[in-house]
Amino acid sequence: MKQSDGKVAVVTGAGGLLCSEMARALAKKGYKVALLGRTLEKLEKVEQQINRSGGTALSIPTDVSSETSVKAAAEIVRKEWGSYSVLINGAGGNQAEALTNTTAFDERELLDDGSVKGFFNLSMDTFLSVININTMGTVIPCFVFGREMARQKKGAIINFASMTSFRPITKVAAYSIAKGGIVNFTQWLATYLAPAGVRVNAIAPGFFLNDRSRKIMYYEDGTQTDRAKNVLHHTPMKRFGEAKELIGCMNWLIDEETSGFVTGVTIPIDGGFLADPGI
Ligand SMILES: NC(=O)c1ccc[n+]([C@@H]2O[C@H](COP(=O)([O-])OP(=O)(O)OC[C@H]3O[C@@H](n4cnc5c(N)ncnc54)[C@H](OP(=O)(O)O)[C@@H]3O)[C@@H](O)[C@H]2O)c1
Repeated sequence: MKQSDGKVAVVTGAGGLLCSEMARALAKKGYKVALLGRTLEKLEKVEQQINRSGGTALSIPTDVSSETSVKAAAEIVRKEWGSYSVLINGAGGNQAEALTNTTAFDERELLDDGSVKGFFNLSMDTFLSVININTMGTVIPCFVFGREMARQKKGAIINFASMTSFRPITKVAAYSIAKGGIVNFTQWLATYLAPAGVRVNAIAPGFFLNDRSRKIMYYEDGTQTDRAKNVLHHTPMKRFGEAKELIGCMNWLIDEETSGFVTGVTIPIDGGFLADPGI
């Protein structure tokens, strides 16, 4: 294994909206950044942005729900840069097929004729796949990369929860189960790894427009869907978040000096969504 100064970060979902921003911010702070995600082209775009601005990044195509794939990625990071001290678990998200288009039971769903898509029309295989990617896709990187952090007695892990971790949002049952689980697992692992000097926290973003959610929030002509109006109605700041608005929290959570006693928490960054009872 190469010797490193420990300023190495592993970011999963690094080709996506939120974690590409985090990867760029980590590189600006002098971290070498391993970019993990499914699609190489998305990772390479971020890698080029980082390398062009004087940072160091490496794209490693990885399926975070596969232990074999994550172990292979860890081996590449170890060979290139030695050990690491930061793990950001951003890979995840929903799948359109796992969403209902009703917010409550509708008798028509029992006809199975496609007139509505309710809970009873969902594919249980897809349901399980969403739970798997959004739970095991965090557990496995913690299992693989956390081991080295525990050995070094040093490290900070940040997981990704959601508003639906706290109270389940309509239509997204599988994703809600998974993201509820992330808060629970963050607490569990924080407790478990405290003697190893590894802190584990989570960020719970409110609503940010990534490639998938933009299609849910906006029609092609640019007008807002009812879903978007509903979200903004329940967001006191009356807008969607921007990826850069997570960076202060990330910087704080990875900084031993200023957050060294913080572990097991989930921090909402949500424009007030959680604070608003909607009345
Ligand atoms: N945006 C929001 O409003 C919001 C709100 C709450 C929570 N979150 C959570 O925050 C995290 C980042 O969200 P985002 O908005 O940045 O989403 P995003 O733009 O869709 O990025 C997510 C990334 O995760 C990757 N990914 C998905 N499954 C993977 C797998 N099995 N293995 C490896 N990589 C995988 C995707 O790669 P490919 O594209 O190559 O598949 C994608 O680049 C997610 O966990 C999401 O659930 C987002």
